Parts: sequence; structure tokens; C-alpha cells
Amino acid sequence: MRIITFETSDALAVQCADIFAELLRSAGAPVLGLATGASPVPTYKELIRRYKAGEISFRNATTFNLDEYCELPKNDKNSYFSFMHEQLFDHVDIKEENVHILNGNAPDLKAEAQSYEARIRSAGGIDLQLLGIGTNGHIGFNEPDNKFTKETFVVELAQSTVKSNSIYFTDGAMPKHAITMGIGTIMAARKIVLIATGRSKAAAIRKTVLGDVTPACPASILQFHPDVTLLLDEAAASQI
Ligand code: F6R
Repeated sequence: MRIITFETSDALAVQCADIFAELLRSAGAPVLGLATGASPVPTYKELIRRYKAGEISFRNATTFNLDEYCELPKNDKNSYFSFMHEQLFDHVDIKEENVHILNGNAPDLKAEAQSYEARIRSAGGIDLQLLGIGTNGHIGFNEPDNKFTKETFVVELAQSTVKSNSIYFTDGAMPKHAITMGIGTIMAARKIVLIATGRSKAAAIRKTVLGDVTPACPASILQFHPDVTLLLDEAAASQI
């Protein structure tokens, strides 16, 4: 595990954007795994800036998002489909047909999960997976459990996740289920970058880096991945 600490979240975002930019420039058809939430927003802003400056292009890129809420209309302001379009896709030259976001409203969610895995395989696997981390150590929506998950599946969100994310659901109740890449899907990515900022993430980062590898802290599995970089601000890194 490589760990880099930054004084500001802007400096962190520049470094994270550098990692994406390098892949976008060097790979013929890069496959990106993307995250939602507050953590990646500065990185997406920096990527948009570089696209507008003519430094990078998403023309040949394919993307797979980690997760999506179930039973939330695709165009709801809190869906991850809306989030990704507002925060990144609407501002760069990605081809819509190359954007993959799980459909949390699919009539058969098991079939949706299997088809997502098949789409990742047929794209050649994920080159670079971006992750945030929950205060409970979740990655994607793989919540603390007594076993590690394998492939994309439907999950009941943990109480702590509902508490953290319900701040966004000002007009209605937050969904209690989501569909998410499994730990196996995430671990199959060739390179992983996890970003965390703020003191609320410090305990989860300590368990991820220094704790036992246990499904009680899903992110701890990253200790077994050969190419993981943690980009942290000083508050998130304060317990390691
Ligand atoms: C988002 C995701 C989650 C978030 C995590 C942190 O696609 O899979 O694991 O990365 O909940 O969220 P923020 O960045 O909002 O603290």
C-alpha cells in the first residue's frame, strides 16, 4: 500500500487527477472505475479543468461506477446516474454508450448484477478503480459483514451509511438498498486509488492500513491488492 498525505484536499485532487490523466494519455482504451460521494468531487473538477484546457480526453474511455441506489428514479437528483452526469460526464467528451452505471430499478436485479460483471469482463477489466471509504470502512456499498462479497450484488445499507447519506435526501426518505460491485469485482481492478478526507474517516483509515484483514472493515482487504494508493488529507491520516 502506498500512502500519500496532503495538506489540502485540492492538492490531493491534483495528484488523483494526475493518476487518471496518465492512464487517459497512455492507454488506447482506458477502463475507469468511478466513485460518487463528496470525496471525488474535487478530482472530477480538476479532470474537467484539464479536459477544457485540452490536456486530456475521455473520447476512448469506458467507465463503470461502483454502485447505485435501488428504487430511486434514474433522474432523481440523488441518483448516482444524476451525480456522475452533473459532476463529470456532462462536462467532458465521454461517449454515453461507454458509460456504465448500475440500474437500481432493473426488474431483475440479479440479472442486472450478472450483466454488469459481463460488461466489465468484455471491456477487458478495470484499469484504474477510484474509491472513497465509509466511516464504517465500506468500499462501494460493501458494508461490514462476516464475509467478503464476490461479485456485484444487492445490499441492505448499514445504519451508519443511511445516517451519513440521508443529509442529501432533503425531499424524501433515503433508499435502504443499493446495488454495488462486490469486493471481488473491486479487487480485480489492476490499480486502485482510495481517497479520504476529514477526521471522520481517520478510524476507518487506521483499520484499513493497520488492522487485521477482516470483512468487519471491508477496505482492509486492500492490504492484499498489489497496486493500491491511498491519497489522504492530514485529518484522515491522523491515526496512522
Ligand atoms: C460511492 C461509494 C461509497 C463512498 C463512501 C464515502 O460510490 O461507493 O463507498 O465512496 O461512502 O462517501 P463520501 O465521499 O461522501 O464520504
